[in-house]
Amino acid sequence: METVTTVAGLRMALAKTRKSGKRVGFVPTMGYLHKGHVALIEASRAQSDATVVSIFVNPTQFGPNEDLNTYPRDFLRDERQCRDAGVSILFAPDAREVYPGGFETLVEPSELTKSLCGAFRPGHFRGVATVVCKLFNMVQPDVAFFGQKDFQQCAVVRRMAIDLDLSVEIVTVQTVREPDGLAMSSRNRFLNEEQRQRALAISRALFAAEAEFKAGEREVDALLEIAKRQLERVDLLQYAELVEVDTLKPAESPLRRPAVFCVAAYVGGTRLIDNVILN
Ligand code: PAF
Repeated sequence: METVTTVAGLRMALAKTRKSGKRVGFVPTMGYLHKGHVALIEASRAQSDATVVSIFVNPTQFGPNEDLNTYPRDFLRDERQCRDAGVSILFAPDAREVYPGGFETLVEPSELTKSLCGAFRPGHFRGVATVVCKLFNMVQPDVAFFGQKDFQQCAVVRRMAIDLDLSVEIVTVQTVREPDGLAMSSRNRFLNEEQRQRALAISRALFAAEAEFKAGEREVDALLEIAKRQLERVDLLQYAELVEVDTLKPAESPLRRPAVFCVAAYVGGTRLIDNVILN
């Protein structure tokens, strides 16, 4: 594995790979890697010849009162994990490399960011779309991999690739969970034992709604009610919503088309998100 920190270094490393006509897979991350990231790397390795991973804690996707400064970081551990997972190139630029002085051009998604996290994190998806677009231009991957836990992010990136004619295939990989159901997230490390237990309310709420859906329930209010009973244990529920998978607009009741049940909640000071697709 080659570790590079500059765009010039990345292009040199990639040139060798491309000369031999290899299909390049890309896994963008903010580091502090966990099994969810490893699943993205494995999916990339299965579908491409060389995998590039980026580690960059992107400042433009954090709001002024969010956790940019405390976001967990452990570069040496991440580098080891990437090497063990069979990554070909690790790209770890600093903020000046990604946003040099004078930088002023942003990618602004629109309709897809009006609901869910977009409604609570103004500017977040502009930061995500901008950095993912830049990373796509730097890496020029054939295929890129994103986790389903960030369902709205997947929708925004997919839409951006279509709208901006980016020739990259976007693959969504199923959420990886702890054995008790908690969705893997770099932010889980902020939970103490008591909070970790209460955080289970989120996946339990989603699984309860999913079970009722599988048993035949199609009324949106009934599904929300079942989930909300579990969600009483979180400290602050930002949203628990059933939305259409393509538009992310509220799903009509009774459900006739695939929908995704999305939750965002705070447990202690930690904001967690999760979702299940009801299809
Ligand atoms: O999902 C993430 O880790 C980030 O939002 C991403 C896609 C790496 C962009 O900074």
